[in-house]
Amino acid sequence: MSKRVLLAGATGVIGRELVPMLRGRGHRVTALVRDPSRAAGLAVDDIVVADALDAPAVRSAVLSARPQVVVHQLTALRVSTGEGMETTARLRIEGTTNLVRAAVRAGARRIVAQSIAFATAPRGGGVLTEDAPLFFDAPDPGWSRTVRAVAELEHTVLGTHDITGLVLRYGSLYGPGTLYHPDGAIGAAVGRGRFPLPESAAGVTSFLHVADAASAAVAAVESEIGGVFNVSDDEPAEAATWVPAYARMLGAPPPRTVPVMLIERMSGWLTGYQLTAMRGAANGYAKRVLGWRPRTPSWRTGLEVASLGP
Ligand SMILES: NC(=O)c1ccc[n+]([C@@H]2O[C@H](COP(=O)([O-])OP(=O)(O)OC[C@H]3O[C@@H](n4cnc5c(N)ncnc54)[C@H](OP(=O)(O)O)[C@@H]3O)[C@@H](O)[C@H]2O)c1
Repeated sequence: MSKRVLLAGATGVIGRELVPMLRGRGHRVTALVRDPSRAAGLAVDDIVVADALDAPAVRSAVLSARPQVVVHQLTALRVSTGEGMETTARLRIEGTTNLVRAAVRAGARRIVAQSIAFATAPRGGGVLTEDAPLFFDAPDPGWSRTVRAVAELEHTVLGTHDITGLVLRYGSLYGPGTLYHPDGAIGAAVGRGRFPLPESAAGVTSFLHVADAASAAVAAVESEIGGVFNVSDDEPAEAATWVPAYARMLGAPPPRTVPVMLIERMSGWLTGYQLTAMRGAANGYAKRVLGWRPRTPSWRTGLEVASLGP
């Protein structure tokens, strides 16, 4: 059944994939954008303008769109610095509150929001389900702030009585426009042989192609249920596996092995953590309950295709 969908983040990496998928399924899409010039060429039914951090502007924009479903794909992660992380934390906390309140006022029945699958604490097995505890006690203040912001987003989306909330915990995004693409920061470093591996590279990454992130959002829009779902591919991979494999695909030399302490000094705590201790995410619940399947079930084929270029 066709639904009126308000998409916040329509001009982003995921949003641009999601717009044609939603419209292709017969939904009417209104994009909420902060800068209409960024929406040039975006084939949506309507545009409303608001900064997500401006509560009155969000309220009047959402009220004018009268959506049945609100989709939240807002981040500021295109800026991969501390400032990007801090703004993203604000979008997750304040932006989510603004959207949920406005959605309830406008009479929307559902809200679907983007979260991350790698905020879990690195305890237990290598691949964790949705009930695993989050990493609130991360030793890095920036990462524990991210985890708290993610938890607050999820609480706001799931904990509002008048609306059904569904949280999509995305794995590590790859595909055009992402950090892992050959022209993104990580892909380019791997391709130049400049992405060192720690001696113990047992950190697990659950990858997700951006098109599969978007198709999960379509499944979430069309579902009637709520809750938290990991959305990731079928092949969680240790850094010791995926980094050398991606280097081979890109025709790069094998990655240099260095002590963990050196990785942290060179690339920061988060990269060291991701490569040594991070856990992957199991996607069985999304498959069973949302009926979602990744079109690219393995990063091996997805990154191989990316490495061949346009
Ligand atoms: N999503 C993740 O979990 C994640 C994690 C790590 C890294 N990354 C990296 O982040 C990059 C993009 O991922 P993404 O799709 O999540 O983000 P994105 O492409 O930057 O999209 C974010 C969307 O949010 C909008 N937005 C940001 N601030 C806003 C505000 N104050 N008011 C209204 N709209 C606002 C942006 O609008 P504008 O077009 O106006 O900016 C854009 O439409 C990729 O390189 C990815 O690898 C993502």
